[in-house]
Amino acid sequence: MSQRSYALSTIDGYSGYGAEQGEKKLRAAIASTYYADLGIEEDDIFVSDGAKSDISRLQVLFGSTVTMAVQDPSYPAYVDSSVILGQTGQFQKDVEKFGNIEYMRCTPENGFFPDLSTVRRTDIIFFCSPNNPTGYAASREQLTKLVQFAKENGSIIVYDSAYAMYVSDDSPRSIFEIPGAKEVALEVSSFSKYAGFTGVRLGWTAIPKELLYSDGFPLAKDFNRIVCTCFNGASNIAQAGGLACVSDEGIKAMHEVVGFYKDNTDIIVDTFNSLGFKVYGGKNAPYVWVYFPGQSSWDVFSEILEKTHVVTTPGSGFGPGGEGFVRVSAFGHRENVLEACRRFKKLYK
Ligand SMILES: Cc1ncc(COP(=O)(O)O)c(C=O)c1O
Repeated sequence: MSQRSYALSTIDGYSGYGAEQGEKKLRAAIASTYYADLGIEEDDIFVSDGAKSDISRLQVLFGSTVTMAVQDPSYPAYVDSSVILGQTGQFQKDVEKFGNIEYMRCTPENGFFPDLSTVRRTDIIFFCSPNNPTGYAASREQLTKLVQFAKENGSIIVYDSAYAMYVSDDSPRSIFEIPGAKEVALEVSSFSKYAGFTGVRLGWTAIPKELLYSDGFPLAKDFNRIVCTCFNGASNIAQAGGLACVSDEGIKAMHEVVGFYKDNTDIIVDTFNSLGFKVYGGKNAPYVWVYFPGQSSWDVFSEILEKTHVVTTPGSGFGPGGEGFVRVSAFGHRENVLEACRRFKKLYK
C-alpha cells in the first residue's frame, strides 16, 4: 500500500479521477475473492467508501415512496436513512417505531429469524447476516425462505454482509449462495471489519445483472447513475489498500485479524456464561448479545458504565426488539477485553 501511495506523488504514478465504479483490478479481485462460483462478475461490483455510505446511496436510488422492512433489532443506518429520505411516518413513542416501516422482530424465541408469515409486504427488505447487534447468522434454509418471500412479493433484498468473514459454521457468507437470490437481492459489504479499515473507508456493493425492476430495467444501471452523480469513486489510496487486502498475503492477514477478534468474543461469551447470563451471538460475529430480562437496556448500560467504566451498547438503540439486551463488542485490545471481563465478574459475582 505504501509503495502505491508513494507512486501517487510521482509524475508516472499520479492518477486523478478514477472510474467511479472502482478500479478494474480491485473490482475483479473482490468478485473472485468473495463471489467465486456465485456468478457475480467484475462489472457487478461497485467499490465504495464503505457500506454505510452505500446504504444511503441506495436509499437515494429507491426514493421516498418505497416501503421498507428491517430486522428488529438491526444496525440503525437502515431506519435512519429511511427517515432522512422521507419514507417513514412519524415516530410512535408508545411502540418506539417509525410509521410505515415493517419491523421484523428477531428474538431468542424465533431463533433471531423473523416469522415471515406475519411480515407485511414491502418494496425493500434490509437484511443483515451475521446480524449487528444480535450476532446471529441466518442458515441456508432461512435465507432460502427469505429469497422466496421476496420473490413472491416482488421485493428487493438489500443484504448486508459486513460480518461475513466472521461466520464459522456453514451459514452462507453471501446471499448469492442461495439459488435465485440474484433476481431479488443486492449485497453491501465492507473491509471495515475484515481488515480494520473503519478509518480507511472502503467497501463495495454487488448488484447482479439479473436484478431487474418489474419493467425489466436493471437496477445496476440506476445505481451506476447514483454513483457517478453522488460519489465519484473511492479514494485511490484506499483502493490500493483494498487490493493489498485481497492479495494472498492480505487474505491471510484478514483471517488473522478476524481470528483475533473471535478469540476476544470467546472470552466475553465465557465471562457472561460463567456469571449465569443468557448470552446470544458471538459465534459468527464479533458481538455478544447479553440478556437482562425485565430490565431497561439503558439502565443496564448506565450501571455498567458507572460501576466498571466499560462502554457497552444499549440494545434498544437498535430498535424496540433490542430492549432488555446490551451488546458487548469484541473489537478491542486483548488486555482491555480481559480487564473489562474482570470488572464484569466483580460487578455481577
Ligand atoms: C451491519 C453493518 N453494516 C455496515 C456497517 C458500516 O460499515 P462501513 O464502515 O463500511 O461504513 C457497520 C458498522 O458498524 C455494520 O455494523
